[in-house]
This record gives sequence, C-alpha cells and structure tokens, in this order.
Amino acid sequence: MKEQLMAMRRVFGDRLAQVNTRAELEALRVEFLGKKGQLTTILKQMGKLSAEERPVMGQLANEVRELLESSLANHSEQINALEIAQRLKAEKIDITIPGKKYKLGHKHPLSIVLDEVKEIFLGMGFSIATGPEVELDYYNFEALNIPKNHPSRDTQDTFYITENILLRTQTSPVQIRVMEKQAPPIRIISPGRVYRSDAVDATHSPLFNQVEGLVVDKGITMGDLKGCLEAFAKRLYGEDTKIRLRPHHFQFTEPSCEIDVSCFRCGGKGCPMCKGEGWIEILGAGMVHPKVLKNGGIDPDVYSGFAFGLGLERLTMFRFQIDDLRLLYENDQKFLNQF
Ligand code: PHE
Repeated sequence: MKEQLMAMRRVFGDRLAQVNTRAELEALRVEFLGKKGQLTTILKQMGKLSAEERPVMGQLANEVRELLESSLANHSEQINALEIAQRLKAEKIDITIPGKKYKLGHKHPLSIVLDEVKEIFLGMGFSIATGPEVELDYYNFEALNIPKNHPSRDTQDTFYITENILLRTQTSPVQIRVMEKQAPPIRIISPGRVYRSDAVDATHSPLFNQVEGLVVDKGITMGDLKGCLEAFAKRLYGEDTKIRLRPHHFQFTEPSCEIDVSCFRCGGKGCPMCKGEGWIEILGAGMVHPKVLKNGGIDPDVYSGFAFGLGLERLTMFRFQIDDLRLLYENDQKFLNQF
C-alpha cells in the first residue's frame, strides 16, 4: 500500500506538470482526491492491514493527501498569474497607433440661413409654430379667403390626397391654426416645407421651404409691418440695407405688398445679381384680412395684425450667390463642402 501511495504521488506530480487550465486542474483533483478518486480506492484496502500498520499507513495517506492538496493550490495560483499576464497582454493599448479620423458634418446652406432667420425673429420676441404639411383645403385655401374655384388657386396648384386633403402650397395655413389655439398677442414665425405642382428648373421645385410670420395685437399697423421687416432685412443683409414696399395682392392680406431689399451686391446700382434693378424681392406681406382674423376666431374690430411669407430657397440663393435652385437638393458633396 505504501508503494501504491508513492506511485500515485509520482503519477500525480507528472500529470500536474502538464495542467494548464483551471478545468484540467479540477479534473485532476477529482481523479485523485475525489469521492471515487485514486486515494479513496487505495484507502479502501486499510481493512486488510494489521492493527500496527493501520495508523502508520493512515498517517502516510494523510501526508500524501496534504501534499496533493497543497500542490493543487500552488498550481491554481500559477494558473491565476498566467491568466492575468495573458489578459494584460491581450488588453494592452498601443498608444502609438494613429487614431481614426471622424469627418464632422456641417449645416446645409438652407439650414444656415434658416437658423439666421430664426435667430433674428426670436430676438424680436417671436416664437416658433408648426403646422402639418398634409393639410386640409380649409386651412390652405378656404380660411385664407381663397374660396373654391377662385382664380388665385391657379398659381398654387398642388398634390391632392383627396378632394379636401392636399399638400400645403404655403405656410399661411399655420396662421389660422395658431389663431384658433392662441389668443392675441400673437407673434410667431413658422418655417416649413410647402409643395406646388411645378416642374423642376433653375428657379422652381415642387417642394420648397417658406417661413411664415404672424403678428396680431391691439393697434398693429402697416408701420409695425415695415419696421419689423426692415429690422429683419438689416440684420440679415447688413445695416446699409434699404427696403421697398411694392403694392401687391394676396387674398388673405389687405393691403398687401411685396418687399424688396436693396441689392446687397451692388448696393442698388444694378448688377447681374439684381438683374440691373438694384432691388431684390424677398417676401410677400400685408395686413391680415379681417375675414381671416374672423376665421381664426379673433375679433377684427378689436385686433389687427400683419403677416408675411418668405421663400427660404430664394433667400439662401441670394445669400450665397447660388444660381441654380437644384444645387440645394442634389446633395453633391463638391457643392455642399463649400459651406
Ligand atoms: N403665402 C404667400 C405665398 O406663398 C406669402 C404671404 C404670406 C403673403 C403671408 C402675405 C402674407 O405667396
């Protein structure tokens, strides 16, 4: 039995030397020290020993067990150290590797100009309102004093979803929606996409952007309209900018006008940019028609207001001297990277 124990110790030592992983180590432990392991098998022969031999063998067997256990513990620590070393090696960060360069995007020219417009009006105490692009005929036309079959609908042909639901042709329906919800004083701008059934060319697109403006309060006059939009034009194009109001017609304002700014390129002398005119049209405006106030639930005998609508593409094209509207939608990097 002594020989068996010694042999087992030797075999165990050889086997342990080949163990590299925790799982292998555990398997070895079970094989030698487990309930059905080699040591137990050897100890089963104790019964055959004489009374004198038994304690001697018992002690030897214990010594061997302790030796095996401490060897296992030792080896387990070695495996730990090995694993830590491997992890440190695997997770090592090479700070000399060149970094990845992430290209930062930037704003589209339309967004650059829209942000400027918003900032100017927010600075004058306006807030921003929104409305749906898929709109009811009522809000887009009817409530704005453009009845069915009115000739002014011809210039704003659009895409119909049903007879009474369409893609809005202008941001003006937001005027009505705001008045329905909010009591005066009202001071809002409303930027957004609008649609018209136009063929694409250098100055037309079936989809474009407008910014609507609406001010309603007691005692609002044409003077407020002019002062407000002059301040806007000067902030956008520079302090020397002049504005000119030309009489015009819109169904939902009375009186109505178009507003020109003095050409910011030639200062009004006439150049290719302003087509020799010295002036550039930037928006439509007017005093809110009493019928429109009434349709918005506001008493025209108590309140008055002005409204305006500007075309964002037009404004952007002048601002950056872009001569073809299509460039704004084609997303050509060679074009966009210039901004
Ligand atoms: N909605 C008009 C258009 O699209 C512009 C406008 C808005 C005119 C508000 C007057 C007042 O042409």
